[in-house]
Amino acid sequence: MNDRLEILVGDITRLPVDAIVNAANSSLLGGGGVDGAIHRVAGPQLLEYCRGLGGCPTGDARITPAFRLPARHVIHTVGPVWHGGGYGEAQLLASCYRSCFKLAADHGLKSLAFPAISCGVYGYPKDRAAAIAVRECRAALVNDPNLERVILAAFDAAMADVYRHCLMAP
Ligand code: APR
Repeated sequence: MNDRLEILVGDITRLPVDAIVNAANSSLLGGGGVDGAIHRVAGPQLLEYCRGLGGCPTGDARITPAFRLPARHVIHTVGPVWHGGGYGEAQLLASCYRSCFKLAADHGLKSLAFPAISCGVYGYPKDRAAAIAVRECRAALVNDPNLERVILAAFDAAMADVYRHCLMAP
């Protein structure tokens, strides 16, 4: 199962997978960070498509075509803003991963790549977020035999090291 879960360092917009996950905001109308990168590469049709979705609550996810991206779909999820850990942030972040995996299963997707949801602008502590990401990915790989490849796409080596540390933990 571990060989179906991999860590890559690089730009998620370049990955030719069934779906890349976007760390969006609840408007789904674009932003900075990975959201900005995905919209830049996908082109204006992605924003047009998202306008019709009516937003997305924190912890939930929406699937769209990927337009000019090499991936086939984009799954937009809205991570929690970190407010110190006492406001349900961990449950909401776990819900982001589960919502993405539910959409992947519903659409028969075999390969999926995640950025470090909430670890940028939203300020989630990287080690805590990575532990949730690894736990939820491992559970999804057990529950969905159709899933062949899940990638944790770290934007830098530091984040990749945090993921690797979590992978080695029991
Ligand atoms: N590929 C992979 N990872 C990336 C990329 C990229 N091209 N660009 C940024 N990242 C990483 C960041 O380094 C960080 O580790 O994605 C992670 C998430 O950071 P953000 O993009 O800031 O997302 P988040 O913290 O969830 O904040 C979401 O930011 O861009 C806005 O509209 C977005 O309001 C929303 C908020």
